[in-house]
Amino acid sequence: MVSFGVMATERTFAMVKPDGVKRGLVGDIVSRLEDKGFKLVGMKLMQVSRETAEKHYGEHKGKPFYEGLVGFITSGPSVAMVVEGENAIAEWRKMMGATNPADAAPGTVRGDYATTIDENVVHGSDAPDTAQREIGIFFLEDELL
Ligand code: RTP
Ligand code: MG
Repeated sequence: MVSFGVMATERTFAMVKPDGVKRGLVGDIVSRLEDKGFKLVGMKLMQVSRETAEKHYGEHKGKPFYEGLVGFITSGPSVAMVVEGENAIAEWRKMMGATNPADAAPGTVRGDYATTIDENVVHGSDAPDTAQREIGIFFLEDELL
């Protein structure tokens, strides 16, 4: 019997965080996603509000880093994206690298561009249910093309 890998066309939510926008890394990050073969189905430059940040990072409420995280993500413009492709959720997480840049491999976004866990350049959904939830927080249905 012919064996196939686990294939699934998925959508994930990806973001260039304020540090990445300030440092002019948007082009590089979008190129990495496009070069990989992923398709952009939604994209906007936006100022994340406190309300949106609290929804997005609700799972971390009460943790010691929560207030700093919300403050950081609302500190300047971010680029929000919906990215589509085979195993897009796990693949984008791999391309991002570990949460703590100290543990992120060279060749990953965080491994190449970040030094501290508080400013780690990019976000990506970590599971299908979170992807769906996060896409709904940042995009209206008719903004996805
Ligand atoms: P993100 O949600 O931003 O894509 O990052 P992630 O999944 O890799 O990491 P997550 O556990 O969801 O944490 C969200 C963000 O909170 C900050 N953080 N700081 N000091 C700490 O122990 C700590 N843990 C998490 C990071 O900035 C992380 O990206
Ligand atoms: Mg996360």
